Amino acid sequence: MTTNRSDLTARVIPQMVLGDGSPGSLTAPPPPLPREIPAASRAHERFHVRGNAVVTGGAGDLGFAACRALLEHGLEGLMIFDMHPTEAQGKINTLQSEFPDAKIHFLKVDVAQEDGVDAAISETVKLLGGIDILLSFAGIVACKHALEWSTKEWSQVLNVNTLGGFFVARAIARTMIERGIGGSMTFIASISGHKVNFPQPQVPYNVSKAGVLAMVKSLAAEWARYGIRVNSISPGYMETILNEGDHLDELKKTWLSRNPSGRLGQPDEIAGAIVMLASRAGSYFTGADLLMDGGQTLFM
Ligand SMILES: NC(=O)c1ccc[n+]([C@@H]2O[C@H](COP(=O)([O-])OP(=O)(O)OC[C@H]3O[C@@H](n4cnc5c(N)ncnc54)[C@H](O)[C@@H]3O)[C@@H](O)[C@H]2O)c1
Repeated sequence: MTTNRSDLTARVIPQMVLGDGSPGSLTAPPPPLPREIPAASRAHERFHVRGNAVVTGGAGDLGFAACRALLEHGLEGLMIFDMHPTEAQGKINTLQSEFPDAKIHFLKVDVAQEDGVDAAISETVKLLGGIDILLSFAGIVACKHALEWSTKEWSQVLNVNTLGGFFVARAIARTMIERGIGGSMTFIASISGHKVNFPQPQVPYNVSKAGVLAMVKSLAAEWARYGIRVNSISPGYMETILNEGDHLDELKKTWLSRNPSGRLGQPDEIAGAIVMLASRAGSYFTGADLLMDGGQTLFM
């Protein structure tokens, strides 16, 4: 990459290659659901989740609900990347007892560390045999006035929420391209990437999630030809550890005064969108963002 102005006119600019949807290509439509099987079997098939998934932040509240949902819909192998092995172990034990036939693993991975991510993806491929689905939940949030952020803190939020998501997606995309059967990636963005939260100030978080939304569209455009669909879900305020505690009572009143559903979302309410995007039901979704916020952004 050059920043030298005199080199600008001599650049050779790479160009994207798009899919053409032709039969046998990785953007071809899925074969029709067989009419001769019962309607209930077709309905099951439409939302059946196949293969193996990596879920970053899978030991967190929303990530864990998503892991369970994928397993309920047929996921065979699950790899959770998160920072806290002790906390994760209890959740893995719970999932393993609910889904004894599934292979469930955990690796301590900081998604913001590129080398560690690459090594963890190689390890995952060895353990599971291939990765079909990525759910990118790993994220951090902090609230401060714009004038008070240090460069280090600003970078930390961006490095985990945006760049970290990219590191994992790129490492997985390489394995998907090598296998040649495509896959699905779902990033967790936020209402904060769409509008400015009120009243808490959190500019780096908002920027990091707007970055996720832009990244999703860019990756979807570049990777469609490999059969990799890339989408995001933008939750509103959810009942997770991020929104727990008496110190948030006043803020919550303000949030709810602008929410037509009059409540926060339950973690499991993310399950439907997660399963849809990871299954055949989502086969023509790519580059999309699904707002899931009880209507918060109508007034936010
Ligand atoms: N809770 C909400 O209201 C809400 C709303 C919109 C978006 N989100 C987003 O949803 C995602 C999950 O949030 P949650 O509410 O479940 O919170 P959570 O804190 O329970 O989950 C986040 C998980 O990410 C993990 N994590 C943090 N930094 C990491 C890193 N560097 N590497 C690997 N893992 C890391 C944490 O250990 C945690 O398990 C986050 O990206 C968050 O920004 C949450």
